[in-house]
Amino acid sequence: MSSDTTGTAAENAATPAAAPAPNPNAPTEETVLAVEHYTDRLFRFRITRPRSFRFRSGEFVMIGLPKEDGRPLLRAYSVASPAWDEELEFYSIKVPDGPLTSRLCNIQPGDKVLLARKPTGTLVLDALLPGKRLYMFSTGTGFAPFASLVRDPDTYERYEEVIVTHTCREVAELTYSRNLVADLINDPLVGEMVEGKLRLYTSCTREPHEHQGRITDLIDSGQLFRDLGVPPLDPQTDRAMICGSMVMIQDTKARMIRAGLTEGSNAAPAEFVIEKAFAG
Ligand code: A2P
Repeated sequence: MSSDTTGTAAENAATPAAAPAPNPNAPTEETVLAVEHYTDRLFRFRITRPRSFRFRSGEFVMIGLPKEDGRPLLRAYSVASPAWDEELEFYSIKVPDGPLTSRLCNIQPGDKVLLARKPTGTLVLDALLPGKRLYMFSTGTGFAPFASLVRDPDTYERYEEVIVTHTCREVAELTYSRNLVADLINDPLVGEMVEGKLRLYTSCTREPHEHQGRITDLIDSGQLFRDLGVPPLDPQTDRAMICGSMVMIQDTKARMIRAGLTEGSNAAPAEFVIEKAFAG
């Protein structure tokens, strides 16, 4: 062994162990600002937004809580607030035995939530080619990314007409989308832009409501287009975003393809885009 080695060992013995370097990719700890419960299965909450957190309206990010051992328990959530908002909003399901949502549903203002640093996703305006009319088809918590996009002025700058559909089993599950869209008229940023441009079309499948049935059936029968007073889907004019359960996405996507629309992505924008609604 060289004297160098001996020297280094002696130095090491004399130097206190260095603290592990902080992981630059670790989630940040954010503060809960507001919580609102809609049903025993649905709630929304708002948290602080770090200055460094940049995202495009419609994207999702991993959020969560620390586990008992201190390691993060994270799940994907669409950001429901628009890119310009100083806070972040999320719309969540509560699953009684879900590892994250069963705990997340008990958060109160002042509590801490973990926020990952890298948002991503395909439900973004940049993944679509320009068009006249933008459809956003959602079921359940699949409305979340559209809660972001309908509050983004860019949406109204790019499209003449914006139609958001939200289908749930029961009427009470439509509260978030209905309140949000009704209040938009008073929004200082997009209030004037939404007038005459944005329409929310809600339907229920297991309770009486103004419109009844799955969105796929309403497309097939043409009822959706008759109710809205618009022509059937046309790849020349119409663009679409789809967010719901895996089966809902596949079934709705099949209708888009049948109408002649092609699927787009961030790398290759086209006429419609899809994303799974995340659930805990
Ligand atoms: P239904 O009540 O007929 O199942 P879920 O909570 O299961 O995700 O469902 C949310 C909404 O999406 C419900 O109204 C449900 O209708 C509807 N839905 C479920 N599967 C599909 C599908 N494959 N295509 C269109 N809508 C669907």
